[in-house]
Amino acid sequence: MTSDSRFVALALKPDTKPDMTKHLTTLTRQSILLTFLLILFISTTFAQDISTDAGVISAGKELFNANCKSCHKIHQKSVGPALADVQNRVPSIDWLKSWIKNSAALIASGDPYAVKIYEEYAKSQMTAFTTLKDDQIMSILAYIQDETVKGPEVAVAATPAAGCNRLSPYSCFIGSHPWLLSFGFEALLRSERS
Ligand code: HEC
Repeated sequence: MTSDSRFVALALKPDTKPDMTKHLTTLTRQSILLTFLLILFISTTFAQDISTDAGVISAGKELFNANCKSCHKIHQKSVGPALADVQNRVPSIDWLKSWIKNSAALIASGDPYAVKIYEEYAKSQMTAFTTLKDDQIMSILAYIQDETVKGPEVAVAATPAAGCNRLSPYSCFIGSHPWLLSFGFEALLRSERS
C-alpha cells in the first residue's frame, strides 16, 4: 500500500475518525497541562517580587537599621557597597538570601559574583546573618527598594541662599529676611520728613 492509498483508506473508514479525535484530545490535554505547569513555574519564579507594602517596608527599615546600617548606606558606598537597586545587579533574589545569610559560604562555593564583589571590597567580610528568616530578608529588600525609588535625599537646608557667602554675611542675612528692608525704608522716610 502506498501512503496515498493508505490516506484514502483512512479517510474513507469512518471508525478511524474517533481515534484521531481521541489522539487530538490527549494532545490538547497535554498541552493545556503543560501550559499550566509553565504558568505555575513562571509565577513561582517571579512570585518573589519585592513588596511595596508600607508595613513590610517599615519592618525592613528596622531590620536594616539594626543589622546593616553600620556597614551599608543605600545611596553611598560605606564599608560595603551602596545597596540601591541591588536586586537588579545580583544574580537573583535567592542569591541575595544566601548571601545575606552566609556570604562566606557563597564565596567559598566559588560563586563568581560573590567572589567578584568580595575581591572588589578588599576581602573585607560581611557578617553572616544566619538567623534572618527569608521574609525578614524580603522586608529588608522592600525597604532598600523603596529607598532606591525615593532616590537620595537632597540636602535642601544645606544649600546657601543666593548671594550668601562668607564675604557678605549681611547680604546673606538680608537675602533670607528681605522684609527687614521695609524697616530700613521706613526709617529713611521718617528721617527725611523730620
Ligand atoms: C560588617 C559589615 C557589614 C554588615 C554588618 C553588613 N554588610 Fe553587607 N557587605 C559588606 C561588605 C564589605 C560587602 C562587600 C562584599 C564583601 O567584601 O564581602 C557587602 C556586600 C553586600 C551585598 C552585595 C552588594 C552588591 O553590590 O552586590 C549585599 C546585598 C549586602 N551586603 C547586604 C547586606 C544586608 C542586607 C545586611 C544586613 C542584614 C548587611 N549587608 C550587613 C559588609 C557588611
